[in-house]
Amino acid sequence: MKLAQRMTLKQLRALVAVADSASFTQAARLLHLTQPAISMQIRDAEAIVGQVLVDGRREIHLTPAGEILVRAARQALHSLELAEVELKARMGVAAGTLDVVAITTAEYFVPHLLAEFGRRHPDITFRLTVDNRERVRTLLQEQRCDVAIMGQPPRGIDLRRIPFAPHRLSFVARPDHRLAGRKRIPPAALTDERLLLREQGSGTRDNLERFLRAHGVKPLAADELGSNETLKQAVMAGMGIAFLSHHTFAMEVESGRLVRLDVADTPVIREWNVVSRTDRPMTPALDALLEFLQTEGAARMRAMER
Ligand code: PGA
Repeated sequence: MKLAQRMTLKQLRALVAVADSASFTQAARLLHLTQPAISMQIRDAEAIVGQVLVDGRREIHLTPAGEILVRAARQALHSLELAEVELKARMGVAAGTLDVVAITTAEYFVPHLLAEFGRRHPDITFRLTVDNRERVRTLLQEQRCDVAIMGQPPRGIDLRRIPFAPHRLSFVARPDHRLAGRKRIPPAALTDERLLLREQGSGTRDNLERFLRAHGVKPLAADELGSNETLKQAVMAGMGIAFLSHHTFAMEVESGRLVRLDVADTPVIREWNVVSRTDRPMTPALDALLEFLQTEGAARMRAMER
């Protein structure tokens, strides 16, 4: 076999891309290559290993041998990334690409923060991914991002967490809803409502459930809808009321299509955090981003909020 001598980084990257996307076409797209080029890299890798790595009879999946090699490939690629980070840090300039991942709800403000930060640091570029809690956790776990912007950081990973702005959450309804415009609505009034929920595992959903438990409220009915956008559409369609993060509904409140309900003990106030692994080396670029969020994040987010 003599893997260390014979395997190339191209083969390793192709293998990881196929493992991540479970598709040769997708892997080709990810790596800006053609599909035959990807197949060739995999075939060459298989020839070196002397075993089948990717089984494509029905669905594309890794064989046990493929799993072993993908694990090694990820580690090899990751050490190169870390070396790059360290090399850039030695140059002492806030430059390079920052890999930022934002939890779904943060997509309403993260681009605005990065836009301002980018204006001040033209040598820093971003790769921004928006994803759900489970994926953000995986990206942190597998060291595939520099920082994550989220409410509650995941457990079980050694993370440094810097809170940089308050995170307000409230109930919203259609302007013609019976509770709209009422002052200091007691939480018990929600018992007669149909509540629209984010998916299980979402931070927003978790905050809502805590609020309901704390006030002993059991709503009339609860429907689960996958995203903040779908929730807003459903509320506007008159399906029920929802509990959302303030940045997600600023535009609809501004245009008069949704109203915030003045429920007692709301807004619920939590924190927005910038989170990174403790073993992620600090770079001037990362330092600059953390500094920016801590000094200006809160004020800038307040200005975008309703
Ligand atoms: P969510 O995240 O998009 O999963 O609801 C918000 C949060 O992290 O608090």
